Amino acid sequence: DEDGYELWLRYRPLPQAHAPRWNTIVFDGAPSATVRAAIDELRRGAQGMTGKDLALGTRVTDGAVVLARAGKLPAGVDGAGLADLGREGYLLKSATVAGKRVTVIAANDDIGLLYGAFGLLRAANTGKPLDRLDERSAPKLQLRVLNHWDNLDRSVERGYAGQSIWNWWELPDVRDRRYVDYARANASLGINGTVLNNVNSKPEILTAPWIAKAAALADVLRPYGIKVYLSARFSTPLELKETKTADPLSPEVAAWWRNKADEIYRAIPDFGGFLVKANSEGQPGPQDYHRTHVDGANMLAAALAPHNGVVMWRAFVYAAEKPDDRAKQAYDEFKPLDGKFARNVLVQVKNGAIDFQPREPFHPLFGAMPATPLMMEFQITKEYLGFAMHMAYLGPLFEETLTSDTMRQPGGLTVAQVLEDAAHGKRPTGMAGVANVGSSRTWSGSHFDQANWYAYGRFAWDPQGSARAFAEEWATQTFARDPKAVQGIVDMMMMSREAVVNYMTPLGLHHLMDTGHHHGPGPWVDNLGRPDWNPTYYHKADRQGIGFDRTARGSNALAQYAPALAARWSDPRTTPPELLLWFHHLPWDYAMPSGRTLWAELVGHYDRGVAQAEELRTRWERMKPFVDARRYDEVRERLDVQVKEAHWWRDASVAYFQSVSGLALPPGARPPA
Ligand code: GCU
Repeated sequence: DEDGYELWLRYRPLPQAHAPRWNTIVFDGAPSATVRAAIDELRRGAQGMTGKDLALGTRVTDGAVVLARAGKLPAGVDGAGLADLGREGYLLKSATVAGKRVTVIAANDDIGLLYGAFGLLRAANTGKPLDRLDERSAPKLQLRVLNHWDNLDRSVERGYAGQSIWNWWELPDVRDRRYVDYARANASLGINGTVLNNVNSKPEILTAPWIAKAAALADVLRPYGIKVYLSARFSTPLELKETKTADPLSPEVAAWWRNKADEIYRAIPDFGGFLVKANSEGQPGPQDYHRTHVDGANMLAAALAPHNGVVMWRAFVYAAEKPDDRAKQAYDEFKPLDGKFARNVLVQVKNGAIDFQPREPFHPLFGAMPATPLMMEFQITKEYLGFAMHMAYLGPLFEETLTSDTMRQPGGLTVAQVLEDAAHGKRPTGMAGVANVGSSRTWSGSHFDQANWYAYGRFAWDPQGSARAFAEEWATQTFARDPKAVQGIVDMMMMSREAVVNYMTPLGLHHLMDTGHHHGPGPWVDNLGRPDWNPTYYHKADRQGIGFDRTARGSNALAQYAPALAARWSDPRTTPPELLLWFHHLPWDYAMPSGRTLWAELVGHYDRGVAQAEELRTRWERMKPFVDARRYDEVRERLDVQVKEAHWWRDASVAYFQSVSGLALPPGARPPA
């Protein structure tokens, strides 16, 4: 079937020359559920790629795939370095054992064997030479987690892929087969945690019936190395009327959470912990009791610590009472707390200081809290990039953030290094991705949005990986192996996010989407109760100019970055053009490096965005011979919408800015559609 359900795990027949010559799977011992999952996947993959049914045996034969834990490697196989790979790492090796040519998957633990099996299948599927394998891989971050913003009524906040995949009504008794396929997809990338429910959480999720539902999911996911976490609402005990307050320093409250943690761990012995959105967008939190984020997080951490659970405490905070610059608030609140969080707390920070925009500079907290584990939060679901309707491959966005130099160390310190370091390896590390998964047949609402799930998982495994390489892997496994097709599809993916930036928010503009739903333009919106929800607050366009002055003359948000970086970005001439209006308010006739005025350049970007959207569609048409009819058409329909909406964005934005500036269209500009 070509409906997209199989994701990148399609395992289509390989040409004879590239087909693996596997003929048995060898495992010595009684396989655990995790090893069984590895064996099943290898059999499924071999069946699909070669048509052969691999038998399971204990004797090494020619063409065997040998799954071996450290200490049980077949004689003659070099396991050097295995010990350094941790629980989850693996080796893939072509070897000769007793005169037989075999492929060895070696790991320290069963989960490493499962990841190795997926690694081997990926190698086969992407055309790696299978008789000369010598691969070693281990994750650079410990917690690689999806955040589902799934509500208990199965609606999904910012979800564009149908209902929640969690069928709460039928759980815990009915366990949809789909949960296993979800687990396989995640395990194939190394994702090892999932937060089941929305950060805007409800007290009910922590009551017995819901804990039982979560426990049923945990049972299904466990063999795949995936732990379950829950979003906890800070005021839960108070709202359930089981305490008289939710003050984190009240002994009654701390005892309630300790008991609650004990209750959860009785049902889910490997429960991961809590994700908490507190004192943000109206959610309750410790500040309601004049306590700090540290008081709140550490109280929960103490309840989880005996069970090795963690608290992922979000830094996405901003309040209406501080209207000066929303971008500054997380840093202002969290930076002074560095070093004060309990050992099992991670502070989860969005990639940028506003909110998952098509482009933002990296969040100034990265590199600024050296004594606190910071966990990255990316948004896979594209709330501000055209939902599942527009093609926007997020690999380049993730890569841009991760490779940003915080300049917090001589010689450089990238955001990826900050994530990997977590207080010099002594504290947990991690990355979270707000999931784009739902009950849609494609899982993600569109074929190409699957690539964002894929790229997220691969970056969580290796934050120093490459967006292009991940796109190539994905396109080869998902669409076609023909190098011309892969090249064509990857080129489309690599230009797609910049197209969206150009037709929505070029040159550092941000948050211009229409209010509430965030789909479509709304730069004129100026009448919301909270000033920091109005697009006009972010672009500040008037007769004279446009942009948010975050230099010392303005909000001085720049002072939150390392001094050398702040100095560079405080001068518009040394600010990268793609961030220009994020940091500067400039006159319309400001001379850009191109020699054109800011106004002409801005309109030029909008025009380019439209041209790029059209280009995406033209390029897809060239892919027609390589792609099955159903997926071709389904992508094509969405590209038509994207072209239409790119025009809409461009025309509405340019016309609005003209109405403010009074300027005519620059010569050569595209006429409105
Ligand atoms: C965005 C999004 C909300 C979400 C919030 C968050 O503001 O629009 O729906 O709840 O982020 O990350 O908490």
